[in-house]
Amino acid sequence: MSMVNSTIQIVELFSSFLDSKSFVKLSMSSYQGTLAEMRNIYVREVLIKGSIQLGFTFRYATRDITKNYTRGEGEALVKEYLLGGFSQVRIFTIDRDLAFELKGDGFWRVREFAPSLKKQDIAHDKKKRRLLATSNDKLYLHELGIMDANGQVYKHGQDKYKQINQFLALLKPLLDEVDPTSIHHVVDMGAGKGYLTFALYDFLHTEYNINPDFVGVEYRQELVDLCNKVAESSKFDKLVFRQGGIIDYDGEVDMLIALHACDTATDDAICKAIKGNASLIVVAPCCHKQIRREMENGIKKNELSSLTKYGIFLERQAEMVTDSLRVLIMEYFGYKTKVVQFVSDAHTPKNVMLTGIKQKKEIVESRKAEILAEISALKSYFGISTHYLEQLLALSH
Ligand SMILES: C[S@@+](CC[C@H](N)C(=O)[O-])C[C@H]1O[C@@H](n2cnc3c(N)ncnc32)[C@H](O)[C@@H]1O
Repeated sequence: MSMVNSTIQIVELFSSFLDSKSFVKLSMSSYQGTLAEMRNIYVREVLIKGSIQLGFTFRYATRDITKNYTRGEGEALVKEYLLGGFSQVRIFTIDRDLAFELKGDGFWRVREFAPSLKKQDIAHDKKKRRLLATSNDKLYLHELGIMDANGQVYKHGQDKYKQINQFLALLKPLLDEVDPTSIHHVVDMGAGKGYLTFALYDFLHTEYNINPDFVGVEYRQELVDLCNKVAESSKFDKLVFRQGGIIDYDGEVDMLIALHACDTATDDAICKAIKGNASLIVVAPCCHKQIRREMENGIKKNELSSLTKYGIFLERQAEMVTDSLRVLIMEYFGYKTKVVQFVSDAHTPKNVMLTGIKQKKEIVESRKAEILAEISALKSYFGISTHYLEQLLALSH
């Protein structure tokens, strides 16, 4: 570890990486300044009307704000924020990563690591850039019937291709936040025909240059066989599909995805992630039958019966209550959660995605008690005795 005397030296290094075109990304963390809810700042190069600018993402506790600046403005801002409360900064370049930490003596320490991110192609208009570019060497897209042998997406494959790209776009900021190099085991629960599994495997390699063990878990043997065949022909040698139930999975898990896994299968998946101490959880729930019947009877007894008088309302309420409980339970186990919209595929109209990032800081007991109280209140309001995920995790309150 060596020492860097001043913030100005960091800004000069940042500037020299921009000059040498080796700059990939800059991230700032450990904020102790005065701006309420400020968490992180990420800086990348962006192409705006033909000229390169610096795109800043300001991450606050509950929202992100993005703004673009000229190089001069951007450098000045980096300096301002480093002087104004961030005590960790990491500069990713194509040759190396530099991690700076401000110590109590007022000096920055710097450590060097192998490069962990690849430089993105900014030569194209970002809006048109798909995260998963098609080409004739993406054999799996061809074998799964999304594009032809020349890399052209079929008309009937457009929706799926769009869904894949939206899925990757939603994952990208989450992956950036967890440090992809710490992900060694990825599991896709209820992988189905594997569209999103293959795309994520490919994306982790091409975008992040990481090569984790990747398992797709699926009930249906014929889909498992098909996917293993496609993985083999694509030479995706760390991707394997296993026949079985989600609840029976007993491998390690750093990142878990479960997309449109039916009913309580989503809970089985979340439970596996929490018990496996996964750093990243991404689920897009499907049907929500478990609590529906209880709600129907429970709510009739109180003043909220109009919320469930009609079948479609009841279904939507059950969905929201179920997913709210899931998110609360994830928070209870130390995850920072988000709920976002996800493009559904042809099989399901469900379009909500729940995400969780495991926080390094232990959740305080008082917050745990608050969450348990929220869960109890929600259940009693809607006449629910217990939620399946609570049972799985033996959450007592
Ligand atoms: C609607 S498909 C979604 C497939 C894929 N994840 C996607 O989003 O394109 C759900 C898949 O999960 C599988 N599945 C459902 N519950 C499961 C469980 N408990 N264990 C293993 N597989 C399950 C089903 O067989 C089905 O193939």
